[in-house]
Amino acid sequence: MSLHSVKGFLSPDFIIRAAAQPWELAGVRQLRHQVFVQEQGIFDTHDRDAIDDVALPLAALSTFASEADQVVGTVRIHECSSRVWRGSRLAVAQSHRRMGRLGAELIRLAVSTAHGRGCDRFLAQVQIQNVTLFQRLHWTPLREIEVHGVPHMEMQADLAFYPPILDPFAGWKALSVKRKAA
Ligand SMILES: CC(C)(COP(=O)(O)OP(=O)(O)OC[C@H]1O[C@@H](n2cnc3c(N)ncnc32)[C@H](O)[C@@H]1OP(=O)(O)O)[C@@H](O)C(=O)NCCC(=O)NCCS
Repeated sequence: MSLHSVKGFLSPDFIIRAAAQPWELAGVRQLRHQVFVQEQGIFDTHDRDAIDDVALPLAALSTFASEADQVVGTVRIHECSSRVWRGSRLAVAQSHRRMGRLGAELIRLAVSTAHGRGCDRFLAQVQIQNVTLFQRLHWTPLREIEVHGVPHMEMQADLAFYPPILDPFAGWKALSVKRKAA
């Protein structure tokens, strides 16, 4: 047996909550850099913008011995006009994609948190390859657009499927329902 083919253990327990601790906020910045600068090349040097000054960052945290350990997923939300909210910079670490429904859980926390803060319209600019994922989560395509030179779809969430969450910092535990194929 080749040891090179053995994948490292990934704990199947995750915590989904608003990021508050300095290490969580640093982890969010690092993950966004990995995904949007290094992996996707959408930005040359960094992906920060003015929305970060007002947005609430949310995180999916891996665990070690049941304690929060590392940021492996993130999204941010902000109110862009009265009662209209937007989600952006959704990212899950490559090592954790399609294993814990982390993207779906982050979208749930994002929309439900906004709903709990008075949102009556929640929008996102979704990369085209992810439109099916959002449609399965009760989002409607509105129009095709280009953002940073990349094709996107403006989409709107159906708030009926996202009951209000009043305290996103409390969050919840999520359990991976399947492991990535070996
Ligand atoms: C898009 C992204 C956040 C999805 O995160 P993820 O944790 O892998 O997704 P999930 O595991 O929560 O997916 C939920 C379900 O949708 C499916 N799914 C995931 N990505 C999908 C896609 N692009 N198209 C169709 N289905 C998809 C999953 O297989 C899963 O199916 P299941 O319910 O049958 O198990 C992740 O792939 C990512 O970070 N990509 C790079 C950055 C990016 O594209 N950001 C989004 C900008 S709009």
